[in-house]
Amino acid sequence: MRIYISVLEGRRLSFATPNPPILRHFQTNGAFQNGKMVFSGVNYVANETQLRERLTRLGQEHLLTFWGELDEAGRSRLSADIDSIDFEAFEKMRASSEDSADADSELLEVPESLPHTPSAGLESTYIEARTLGEKLLADGRVAAMTVAGGQATRLGLDAPKGTFPIGPISGKTLFQIFAEGILAANQRHGCNMPWYIMTSKSNHDETVSFFNKHNLFGLKQDDVIFFSQGFAPITDPEGRILLAEKDRIAFSPNGHGGSLLALAQNGMLDDMTRRGVDYISYFQVDNPLVNPADPVFIGLHALRQSEASSLTIGKASDDEKVGLFVSVAGKLRVVEYSDFPEELASQRTTEGTRKFDFANIAVHMLNRTFIERVVGQNHMSLPWHRAIKKVPHIDTQTRSPASEARQNAVKYEMFVFDALPLATKPLLLQTTRHERFSPVKNASGVDSAETARRDIIRRSAAWLEACGISIPRKADGQPDCTVEISPSFATDIASLREKAGTIRQISPGDTLLLE
Ligand code: UD1
Repeated sequence: MRIYISVLEGRRLSFATPNPPILRHFQTNGAFQNGKMVFSGVNYVANETQLRERLTRLGQEHLLTFWGELDEAGRSRLSADIDSIDFEAFEKMRASSEDSADADSELLEVPESLPHTPSAGLESTYIEARTLGEKLLADGRVAAMTVAGGQATRLGLDAPKGTFPIGPISGKTLFQIFAEGILAANQRHGCNMPWYIMTSKSNHDETVSFFNKHNLFGLKQDDVIFFSQGFAPITDPEGRILLAEKDRIAFSPNGHGGSLLALAQNGMLDDMTRRGVDYISYFQVDNPLVNPADPVFIGLHALRQSEASSLTIGKASDDEKVGLFVSVAGKLRVVEYSDFPEELASQRTTEGTRKFDFANIAVHMLNRTFIERVVGQNHMSLPWHRAIKKVPHIDTQTRSPASEARQNAVKYEMFVFDALPLATKPLLLQTTRHERFSPVKNASGVDSAETARRDIIRRSAAWLEACGISIPRKADGQPDCTVEISPSFATDIASLREKAGTIRQISPGDTLLLE
């Protein structure tokens, strides 16, 4: 008798006899729980008959459509995938998941927020906040966290999005720009800010190799921590789980809301406790204008004893594809653009300004203890959202790859902003688009590499002007030069001012990279 031992995904050990159809194998006990694969111990997996009976009971027997065609390795892979799903948790997820639907207009109110520039009476609070934020950074109590588990499908990039070159002159990648922002904070505040980067199964290894290839952009090995998010099975609209291959189940990352659970389950929260980190500066991988260590934002969050704070900007247009902060029964929430009632999106105040105008740029400060509370004993209760997507898979009825027209698959995701209503004293701080937000989402047009590069140049030019360096401008007011300030050179106007004396004059058509 031959014995097959295979190691899948680096964690699973299978042991199979070669005698189909009675496949028996040992494997690590992996279960899909709350959107996360959990592994423990060794488990004896049922044979084909038991598997078939079990799946029939669950209405998922189609997963064995190709069983007869599979070799032992394929059967082992498929049964391992099936065994990895906790069907009870899966059914709960499916039953509770919600389709995109308009929020109830009657309930939505404009939330309170703090202004970008402190109004009279708030100046001293902002000064106090800056001092406190600087102290928290210096004391090592703040970590950065990037969610980078998404699949970059809209960008059409076949690599982790953070590896996308975005510097208009330097060609620096998104990851490098964030790394430089963190290094700059480390130098300024004399700290070693840990950076937690969430990947997903499909881009984890590539992300880690990219950082290694670039020597972690000068950050310390111990301070760049990668962890992988959970995933959820993809289904058809009736809840039948899809096959990605004849011997593989189709899974997708469980949304950035899965980051909270993944932080807990991968030991990241314990790691933070060990390091003395109490505050997490959270941002998405797609926004090169983010400041990972903003003392005023950090300080206001701590000063106001908020458990979860968010930055917000005005919308670019009524139909901009951003979530909106609203207040519902006194709780701060984000309503996604697809769920935002159209009549409210265009509603104006008596002064003629947009009434609901607090866009979500996905920049948050989160307390570690808040995440611990939300996640609880791994019984996290964030809602599941359903998204209908085109997902290549094998149609078990036609026994062939699903045609374009039939690719109506359901992905299940949690959103991190659904945790906001659970926070005490949530805080919303206004900022400005040109300073803080220009995401790279699409291959062209709005929110693309082209607009992000343009906005890096515009912000660099504005900072230089604020430091008294004149910028040649075209008739339409746009810079008549290409300037790029890397975070390694300056992270805001104040830090640029310290170096203003070293910057040469800029003539029309010039290219100037400050790094
Ligand atoms: C998101 C927000 C929207 C906000 C906008 C700002 C949602 C549902 N909406 O929209 O309110 O106005 O950003 O740019 O998030 N990610 C993971 N794992 C996943 C899924 C996503 O890490 O499973 C990460 C991505 O890598 C990316 C971020 O989350 O960094 C945003 O995901 P994306 O799907 O692009 O969100 P948007 O629809 O652009």
